[in-house]
Amino acid sequence: MLEKENISLENMNSFGVVHKTKSLLIIDKAADLINFLNSNSIDKSKIQILGEGSNTLFTKDYEGIILHSQIKGIEIKKEADDSVILKVGSGENWDEFVEFCVKSNYFGIENLSLIPGSVGAAPIQNIGAYGVEIKDFVENVTGIDLSSNELVNYTNEECEFRYRDSLFKKRLKNKLFITSVEFRLYKNSKFNLSYKDLEKFDKSKLTISKLREEIIKIRSSKLPDPSSKGNAGSFFKNPEIDKLKLEEIKSNNIDFKYFEVPGKMYKVPAAWLIEKAGWKGFSDGLVGVYDKHALVLINHSSESGGNILKLSNTIKDDVYKKFGIMLEEEVNIV
Ligand code: EPU
Repeated sequence: MLEKENISLENMNSFGVVHKTKSLLIIDKAADLINFLNSNSIDKSKIQILGEGSNTLFTKDYEGIILHSQIKGIEIKKEADDSVILKVGSGENWDEFVEFCVKSNYFGIENLSLIPGSVGAAPIQNIGAYGVEIKDFVENVTGIDLSSNELVNYTNEECEFRYRDSLFKKRLKNKLFITSVEFRLYKNSKFNLSYKDLEKFDKSKLTISKLREEIIKIRSSKLPDPSSKGNAGSFFKNPEIDKLKLEEIKSNNIDFKYFEVPGKMYKVPAAWLIEKAGWKGFSDGLVGVYDKHALVLINHSSESGGNILKLSNTIKDDVYKKFGIMLEEEVNIV
């Protein structure tokens, strides 16, 4: 375990903002954190858990302890004729894990290729893309309960997975340090080609590595690479609206796209709302909105995350004024 004091988070967040943390603990073994918690009296309300920082916006210096996992390892826990259960350390890089599965012909998560971040962060917001969500492959999640300092385990059902949401993002936010995740993957193709750009493929001729390649191509054409443009992917969630609101917007916009979700509600692309409100490609020199995808806020040259937060609030107000829909951030604001 490595302990650092008063250090910059610049290289630990994909927006590239330059805020500091009072303390940073880099953990490569669960036992080290348990020992630390048992032998130090710390203010547990001042703990922030950070993966690779690809879904977090720091808006000021952090006056507490940041916990960062470097727990590694991919281990086969169980193997059957048609599936395999892998236990993966929370500090593994997500896309390297996907690549490992694709090379091993373990099917299921190939549509989640190139999503930035760590394995430990993946269940927190139930990462999803191109018709697939991680919740359908998580067996269980293990972590250190920061109030009891003990290892605890949550079954898939106990994780309370929803669209971009879970128990870990709500009640257990910064209260559970995830150490490993177990995934069930399949040995036979389970391709999900429901996303519009993938419908053209013939399932019988497709291979898992071809699908990964295609996903990487689609993703790279729509979303900016955080290593060259500070961003955190989708900044907002896609909101759900009721039929009344749907009809109101539909009657004024022939190009309005939406899809039905359970409970007689409709999910609408936040990107469409932001683009229609005129924000796509906006820049004030410091921060802006990506010109190829309106859901992505970009840090051009701001040292403080406060400028991104300000832009996000301005966009939220404007979309609300124009459509009566309040957008909700997908990114964690600290
Ligand atoms: N659209 C616009 N303007 C734009 C971009 C998109 O109007 O600038 C409209 C189009 O009508 C398009 C629709 O929005 O058909 C949906 O766009 P897209 O397929 O890119 O998906 P999204 O709903 O904007 C979600 C996820 C992405 C994920 C894609 C693909 C959320 C918040 N975002 O975006 O996830 O990659 O679907 O499955 O659910 C992320 O979470 O960081 C992320 C990138």
